[in-house]
Amino acid sequence: MAGNFTSSTQAIPNVADVPRHVAIIMDGNGRWAKKRFMPRVAGHKRGLETVRAMVKACIARGVDYLTLFAFSSENWRRPVEEVSFLMNLFVSALQGEIGKLHANGVRLKVVGDLSAFEPRLVALIREGEAKTANNTKLTLTICANYGGRWDILQAMNQLALAHPEKVGHFGEADLAPHLAMAYAPEPDLFVRTGGEQRISNFLLWQLAYSEFYFTETLWPDFDDTALDAAIDSYRQRERRFGRTSEQLAVSPAPTFGPAATEKNA
Ligand code: IPE
Ligand code: IPE
Ligand code: MG
Repeated sequence: MAGNFTSSTQAIPNVADVPRHVAIIMDGNGRWAKKRFMPRVAGHKRGLETVRAMVKACIARGVDYLTLFAFSSENWRRPVEEVSFLMNLFVSALQGEIGKLHANGVRLKVVGDLSAFEPRLVALIREGEAKTANNTKLTLTICANYGGRWDILQAMNQLALAHPEKVGHFGEADLAPHLAMAYAPEPDLFVRTGGEQRISNFLLWQLAYSEFYFTETLWPDFDDTALDAAIDSYRQRERRFGRTSEQLAVSPAPTFGPAATEKNA
């Protein structure tokens, strides 16, 4: 459902000890395999095991939303064999995991430009989403053929088509419901494994006030302990959302001021 979450730029969101939404760039599969003299794709296969472990770990820790970057709009630039391996892995993962996700109360969402995928894959995605739609333990979002710029543009285009009379006067609250992840609050914690310190066109809009955590650990090696280290680091951050430390000491979530006109979620 759109519009029920606090926008970090329109109001001060509530902050909890456990991040409500964790978004991860799962990077380093190829290097993990290379280190073992295995083909890059062996790293992707192994990376799927980390996905399974992280779903469980997030449920156990009370995280409500886990978002994983699986394939970027730029990953089509990879060798055709690797792309096709990833597509097949996606199909077999959906076939093998939907039942388990459902049994564990996970709601699955897949966001990105699905028009580029084979109809068989799109059908599996839609089936999996429909089957798990009413689950409430964890919302697992897989970003596939996703790009942050694509997301903002598709939202903008939808909005302009729906309200041509308002072009030139749109505000943030008009655009936000059209973003691919309008059903989720903004990520509290952003994690990138594999050592690179960049966003690689992930959630550009939604990461406006997320806390960033980078680790050298390669995705196939990322485990519960590594997740706990990320969450511990998150806990130590002072999320000011533009205010000063002194203000925070007095009132963690003020309900006044021009940037606090929306009700806190
Ligand atoms: C991330 O691992 C998975 C995808 C992008 C699909 P990589 O395949 O990018 O692994 P490295 O970065 O080459 O080690
Ligand atoms: C980002 O990883 C995309 C995913 C993890 C799906 P990449 O490995 O594609 O990122 P770059 O190319 O190093 O920026
Ligand atoms: Mg990479």
